[in-house]
Parts: sequence; C-alpha cells; structure tokens
Amino acid sequence: MRQQIVAGNWKMNKTLDEGLELVKNVLERLEQRPHGPVVFAVPHPYLQAVAKMLKVRKGFHLAAQNCHHEEKGAFTGEVSADMLASVGTEYVLIGHSERRQYFKETNEQLARKVNLALAKGLLPIFCCGEPLAIRERGTHVGYVAKQLKAALFHLHEADFRKIAIAYEPIWAIGTGRTASTEQAQEMHAAIRVLVSKKYGKSVADDTSILYGGSCNAQNAPDLFRQPDVDGGLIGGASLKAEDFTAIVNAMK
Ligand code: 13P
Repeated sequence: MRQQIVAGNWKMNKTLDEGLELVKNVLERLEQRPHGPVVFAVPHPYLQAVAKMLKVRKGFHLAAQNCHHEEKGAFTGEVSADMLASVGTEYVLIGHSERRQYFKETNEQLARKVNLALAKGLLPIFCCGEPLAIRERGTHVGYVAKQLKAALFHLHEADFRKIAIAYEPIWAIGTGRTASTEQAQEMHAAIRVLVSKKYGKSVADDTSILYGGSCNAQNAPDLFRQPDVDGGLIGGASLKAEDFTAIVNAMK
C-alpha cells in the first residue's frame, strides 16, 4: 500500500539539546492528531536519544542521513548500516544530492549502500533529482531515470517494495525556489511510469514518491494534493516544530 510520508532531514544542524527539544515539540503538537508516518532524519550522534523518544509513540520513525557502502572495516569516521540498525534506526537517506555533490558519491556506491541497508533491515529513502542546467535543457526525466536505473533497478521486486523515493530537484534545495505543483507532478508521474515499466503497475502504485526542495507549510498542501506526490522530504522547514507539524498536517 502506498503511504504518504513526511520526513524531516535536519542535515548538519542543531545540538543534541536543541534536537531533542524539537522532537519533543513536534510530538506534543501532533498528540491526538491522526497523521501518516513522520520520519526524523537526524545526525548520527543523536540517533539513540531520538530512538528512545520515538519508541513510545506510534507513527514516528527514525532515520539516518547516510550510511557507508562497505559493510565494516578500516574506514575511520564512517558509520555502517549495521551500526545504524543496532541503535534502532529504521530508515536511511541514500543518495542525497549533497552527498553526491560534496562527497562525490557515485551511483555504484549508492547501489551498494542500498543493498547493505536492505540486508541490515533498514528502509532506504532514495534521493534523486536533477541540477538546474539539466532542467533548463529539458532532459530532467532522462537524468533521473539514469539515477534510478543505476542504483535501484537491480533489486528484486520484494526488496524494491521497501524503497521510498524522494525526488529533490537540486535547484530547489535550500533556495526558496520550489518546483511548481505541475513540475513536481510531472516528474513524480514519470518516476512512477519508470517503476511500472521495470516492476509492474502494482509495485509502482505502491511506491511512495516524496517531494523535496523548499517544501514549506505554505506550499505543502498543494504539492501533497498532486496524485503522484506522496508527502515530502523536508530540509529547512523541518527545523522548526511549528513549520514541520504544519507540513505533517498537510498530508492527504
Ligand atoms: P530544503 O527543504 O531546505 O530545500 O531541503 C530539501 C532537502 O534537501 C531535504 O533532504
């Protein structure tokens, strides 16, 4: 079954105390309100503390922002999928454009991360999206298709069903320039067609495709109303309880 999901990606923001305060505020604001799955993608050092807070509340989930593409070994400073799972992490962001851009993560590495995450019982939220130049050239659908094929389409159907996809056009991330509802819907529908061609209609219908890129309390209702937009991956607006809960409340 396709689910609408709202995930907050804190990126490299907040101290532990600030982060826990934010989670506490969000939990309080959403108390007694029915909502779809809400995911907090927090910095690695806070995973355990946030796991503890979320354990007692239904509908809230914990994500890491990255994992390494090797299972274990001499990779100083890195964190493995196994480690994340061992502290109660449920989801992991894979292939965020900031990881691709600043840490030169390749499609081949991302495919390995996806495999390891699944093997350790984590649910990948796989990020894709095109830079501005590609959007302006009009080749954005082909660009995103390549990203999906290279890092996800080797999976068997049962594993693919555990993936959520986040479409995050790079030109909309942190820029205040969000994709229009038409642009988002067009790409989300195109992604669903790609999934359908590879895995069939039923898998495509069940795949959650989140939108990310300057999504905020104002534009979330329109974006989430699009038939192929299944919630959002939220950066800046996930750092304030009031904004983030407004976005959660915009789920269909
Ligand atoms: P912003 O919402 O700050 O544009 O970030 C989007 C994003 O990158 C979420 O992963």
